[in-house]
Amino acid sequence: MFDYQKIDDTDITGEAPVTEPERQYYFMKKCRMWAEEEGKRLGRRLTLSMQTMGCQMNARDSEKLEAVLSYIGYGTVEDTVADFILYNTCTVRENANLKVYGRLGYMKNQKKKNPQMKIAMCGCMMQEPTVVEKIKKSYPFVDMIFGTHNVYKLAEILFTQIQSGRMVIDIWQEAKEVVEDLPSIRKYPFKAGVNIMYGCNNFCSYCIVPYVRGRERSRKPEEILREIRGLAEDGVKEVMLLGQNVNSYGKTLEVPMNFAELLREVNKIPELRRIRFMTSHPKDLSEELIQAMAECDKVCTHLHLPLQSGSTGILKKMNRRYTKDDYLALVDQVRDKLPDISLTTDIIVGFPGETEEDFEETLDVIRKVRYDSVYSFIYSRRTGTPAAAMEDQVPEDVVKQRFDRLLTEIQSISREITDRKVGKIEEVLIEEINDHDPSLITGRLSSNAVVHCPASEDCIGEIRRVKLTESKGFYFMGELQTD
Ligand code: 5AD
Ligand code: SF4
Repeated sequence: MFDYQKIDDTDITGEAPVTEPERQYYFMKKCRMWAEEEGKRLGRRLTLSMQTMGCQMNARDSEKLEAVLSYIGYGTVEDTVADFILYNTCTVRENANLKVYGRLGYMKNQKKKNPQMKIAMCGCMMQEPTVVEKIKKSYPFVDMIFGTHNVYKLAEILFTQIQSGRMVIDIWQEAKEVVEDLPSIRKYPFKAGVNIMYGCNNFCSYCIVPYVRGRERSRKPEEILREIRGLAEDGVKEVMLLGQNVNSYGKTLEVPMNFAELLREVNKIPELRRIRFMTSHPKDLSEELIQAMAECDKVCTHLHLPLQSGSTGILKKMNRRYTKDDYLALVDQVRDKLPDISLTTDIIVGFPGETEEDFEETLDVIRKVRYDSVYSFIYSRRTGTPAAAMEDQVPEDVVKQRFDRLLTEIQSISREITDRKVGKIEEVLIEEINDHDPSLITGRLSSNAVVHCPASEDCIGEIRRVKLTESKGFYFMGELQTD
């Protein structure tokens, strides 16, 4: 657990320290004093509304941001209107950007009604200069804009905004240091995401991530292990090791350590029960890692292995650096060592130049691999990426039709796979009360599949044996075992 006393003990009478994280402690305490006054003026506690889009990395950043704001004095509310509005944005596909502009349009009137409201924008979308220009021009009521490399500076940015009363923009093109020892909250007391690396060096030709999240940087193994040990001692049973490309973990460290070695170290932490990781690039999935997965009893029986396309020609244009045959051979190798593994994948439909034959190759891989589930995306043209300038963008109606065909195929395979598991008893981490039916709880198998079963909320956070009684295609209904 983070020791908040460190912030309380910070001397704020002089200038701000130059070193991190002490500098941020200073600004957190300064902001807290301001928030106390502001709360008195309004006669109530200040409120915070956070909206997080996109991937697990953003979700993790949001936990860090929320912890800082919570220390300052903001209480999180479910409402979309509050004293502090924070949008942590995603820009992987264009529709996420459009949604953000829609929300900002709505906030304009809200801010007129509540001028004390502070609006902050952060995340991947803010790393695009055209986005920042547009916000400056069309949404001048936004108070703070910062990017993906300086999330830890929120308190300093807020303090600068309070003092200046103007829009504060702080975007870095590249990350500087990995700042450790900052507060963070956790959405669940029994499972947690842990960053092991930031950024990506792969430059897949469709993808904007390397431009907005910068080059690969790994956290030191001792920092990662210290964090996970602390989490496990605190009751966390499952960790998800997070990185854009975890298979190339450790390459930038002074004392190199690879991902397989890290996994073995995490596996030794006594109180921990389950280990997951995301995301693996097929070109970097080593035999050593497969071996480590097989030998580490806590590593879950799930591997997310993004294919993107089954056509070797398209894969080349995507700059994925593997062929269809390489991928299929890798899957064989994985299944050979890990016969119970559940495989999931990402597919992009309608990459520039994708022909009917190329698409058939994708379907062919899907039929051969038989994934437990597939996350499929319609290709989205991202300005600045090499693919955006490619000729032969596929017409929308063709893409839509292929996308529907893909979904039909995926559904029938997933159903067949879930059907086969009915009757089995599996270990399940019970996570929450079911959204739609409060007499049910929802949990996850080691394979990451979801199961709902009748039980009381007392079992939340426990790993229990559950009999899978019925398959619903993508998920199961089950019965809690009493033993
Ligand atoms: N268009 C559509 N999907 C994309 N992805 C990344 N960039 C794009 C894009 N421009 C998908 C990939 C990746 C997942 C996280 O998002 O499938 O694996
Ligand atoms: Fe994007 Fe490719 Fe990096 Fe994944 S590996 S973040 S798809 S560039």
